[in-house]
Amino acid sequence: MDTFAFIIHPIDPKRDVSRKFPFLGRVLNESQIDFLSTFFPPLYISEIVGITSQATGKEIKGWFIACPYTPKRMLELPEQTVYRKIIQTGRLAEKLGAQILGLGAFTSVVGDAGITIANELDVPVTTGDSYTVMVAVDSIREAAYVMDIPLKTATAAVVGATGAIGQVCAELLADDVERLYLIGRRQDKLEELRDRLKLQSSCELIISTKMDVLKEAQLILTVTSAIHDVVRPEHLQPGSVVCDVARPRDVSAMVAAVRDDILVIDGGMVDVPGPVDFHFNFGFPAGKAYACMAETVALALEGRFEDYTLGKHLTRARVEEINRIAKKHGFRLSGFRSFEREVTTQQIEAVRRNAKNARLPYIAHM
Ligand SMILES: NC(=O)c1ccc[n+]([C@@H]2O[C@H](COP(=O)([O-])OP(=O)(O)OC[C@H]3O[C@@H](n4cnc5c(N)ncnc54)[C@H](OP(=O)(O)O)[C@@H]3O)[C@@H](O)[C@H]2O)c1
Repeated sequence: MDTFAFIIHPIDPKRDVSRKFPFLGRVLNESQIDFLSTFFPPLYISEIVGITSQATGKEIKGWFIACPYTPKRMLELPEQTVYRKIIQTGRLAEKLGAQILGLGAFTSVVGDAGITIANELDVPVTTGDSYTVMVAVDSIREAAYVMDIPLKTATAAVVGATGAIGQVCAELLADDVERLYLIGRRQDKLEELRDRLKLQSSCELIISTKMDVLKEAQLILTVTSAIHDVVRPEHLQPGSVVCDVARPRDVSAMVAAVRDDILVIDGGMVDVPGPVDFHFNFGFPAGKAYACMAETVALALEGRFEDYTLGKHLTRARVEEINRIAKKHGFRLSGFRSFEREVTTQQIEAVRRNAKNARLPYIAHM
């Protein structure tokens, strides 16, 4: 049977450590977990069974393994130290017999996005970023549809637009919408991206290093590698949709608490084909996975045991190819979720209603 492994790591230290070690999660505080994570070895988490291709009937199995570092630790420690720990975790995948290895969340963000790690390991590696792009963009298209926002005349924004995932999301969205804000921290990188996209799209492209411009956007895709939230309630216009692909999240929990006129959706969740059992609760309902996990699994189903998405320069061709492979084997965009809860049709209706009411004072003022 063909096999894969996927590296996960704690994102919300107390919650995630509790999922594997309930006692430690209870007695240690967040900074103790952060500190201790430096000395922890890579961990075997669980066996994944039941994934079956809808196209070929092929069944595969895999493993979750964990790199113990939190995102904060990965940013604080020297890059070489972080690489070393991820490579050690990759060696565990090799011992288990994995034929391809996926890098989850921050293990794919660090340094050169998987290139050094893949060079050190014998097992082929992928970051999962190509399929993450496709699922994020498809999610925002679907959300625009349910919120009655016509894409052709819409104003959209990509936050973290100069990042590996952000750049290709911007490239795809530029073909869909009338106006696109590219938001990032560095003016020079933003200018470079705008000039490149200008050559291939007639969409109006506006760059900014300020989050205030989000007020202009109806559709927002946010995908920074910030470890704290960057999108807050005061940045958003009534009726807008925010698709949060970042882990840790970019959207402040305050948006859900005080803005009932905004639809926030978690980017990157898909249905996995076959009666999958992950034997580990990573916060999703049964049968669903992150798009980056799905890329690793789809490659294993396809028998493509090769380095696939690596580095900070993703290509549209790879995004389209992995989309075809995933679709063929039966991966599908999942229903919407927001802050780890299902979004119901009634909730979407309520957001639309609340947005209409929130807009009324502005209209009356005109
Ligand atoms: N949901 C999923 O399935 C999935 C899959 C893979 C990755 N991810 C997540 O996606 C995110 C981005 O990954 P990536 O590989 O594209 O990372 P990346 O290449 O490092 O890009 C991150 C972008 O975020 C910007 N940024 C960093 N800190 C910021 C801050 N404090 N405020 C504003 N912008 C900031 C960076 O700007 P500079 O250029 O100025 O540094 C860069 O443009 C991560 O959170 C990762 O965990 C999710």
